Amino acid sequence: MRTQVGIVGAGPAGLMLAHLLSLQGIESIVIESHKRVYVEHRVRAGVLEQGSADLLDATGAGERMRSEGLIHHGIVLRFRGEDHRIDFGALTGGRGITVYGQQEIVKDLIAIRLSAGHPILFEVSDVHLHDIKSDHPWISFLLGGASTRIDCAVIVGCDGFHGVSRESVPKKQRTTYEREYPFAWLGILADVAPSSEELIYCHHERGFALLSMRSPSVSRLYLQVKAEERIGDWPDARIWEELGTRLASHGWALRDGPITEKGISSIRSFVVEPMRFGRLFLAGDAAHIVPPTGAKGMNLAIRDVSVLAEALTVWFSTGDSSLMDSYTAHCLRRVWRAQHFAWWMTSMLHRFPDSDASQVQLQLAQLDYTVNSAAAAQSLAENYVGYEWGPG
Ligand code: FAD
Ligand code: PHB
Repeated sequence: MRTQVGIVGAGPAGLMLAHLLSLQGIESIVIESHKRVYVEHRVRAGVLEQGSADLLDATGAGERMRSEGLIHHGIVLRFRGEDHRIDFGALTGGRGITVYGQQEIVKDLIAIRLSAGHPILFEVSDVHLHDIKSDHPWISFLLGGASTRIDCAVIVGCDGFHGVSRESVPKKQRTTYEREYPFAWLGILADVAPSSEELIYCHHERGFALLSMRSPSVSRLYLQVKAEERIGDWPDARIWEELGTRLASHGWALRDGPITEKGISSIRSFVVEPMRFGRLFLAGDAAHIVPPTGAKGMNLAIRDVSVLAEALTVWFSTGDSSLMDSYTAHCLRRVWRAQHFAWWMTSMLHRFPDSDASQVQLQLAQLDYTVNSAAAAQSLAENYVGYEWGPG
């Protein structure tokens, strides 16, 4: 097979890139190791920054998001059992976020691509990248047991944190920055109306809790748990009890309901540099991971590929590679801003194993300041809805 851009991975990054390229008349083939039904039902992120939602809309992929997504203009910080709202609308000139499941975006992008007759090859295995420093890179893999090869001008690794693309760059040629946090998140999806209209980020002496949602009848909730915890140790009743304890607030009650999905995710921060090696580009989680407290991961993936789509469009049409050359610097500026914001939110809201009483007081002092100082609240708000860099 031959194409202009070979894309490894059909997550938000790979599918959005294929969509943006096809709008510019650039051909691509997407390969994916899992089945279609698996990627369409993998429950993960849920918060879209204003800019990500606008991009989906502007490129014709936002129709269902606009009708089913929930637009929010604030979040609640709950600490000492009391609520403090951060008003995004007032603090960012009317900007907001859209709550819409990542797997719904994946479904929408797959449907657009397949209905236009463009290929996604599911259930590939044994993927290898070749000659990435040359002008003729290629990808080999097994498809239905048969050895298959794609020759392309450019390969884009959108295969997530555990993919093969990043590992194809020689170790000596990449720098990695990594931090593993000493706790994990237990996430559930439950068939119950959300107990709050807006997301609640909750600081509690027993650990962080987060109330989010997917629709007017589906709640998404998270609990900070120990890094080594197993999901088998958390029967449903224990999860609801712990959520009830941490989220307790005067005059407010947590509604519970049947849990339809649960899992534990480790919390880490990771960045690889550069994000380009010859004719291989890395995008999304293949290049960087952020702690989920800032809700930035999927948004960074979408922003990477919008930068890359523009760079490739210019290169394919004029031969000018300057935007390809600046891809790493362009993306990493946003990535490190998001890393800092996610680290700041994580540090302020979680219970650290070694934290003593004075550290808890420092967190509470920071929370207090954040909700009372207009400057501090605005800083949180503009980062949460997505900080837009000016020119230069
Ligand atoms: P992925 O979604 O990981 O997609 C990579 C794809 O590549 C997968 O389909 C995988 O099967 C495929 N693949 C892997 N290896 C190969 C291979 N060798 N060959 C072919 N295909 C391969 N982000 C937010 O913005 N907001 C949030 O609210 C948020 N909440 C989160 C909550 C949790 C609990 C978690 C775990 C993450 C959250 N994130 C959030 C992060 C977000 O889910 C990720 O950043 C996002 O999935 C990145 O998209 P991606 O396309 O880069 O990678
Ligand atoms: C989610 O709804 O899954 C979600 C929301 C906010 C976060 C992380 C995850 O910070």
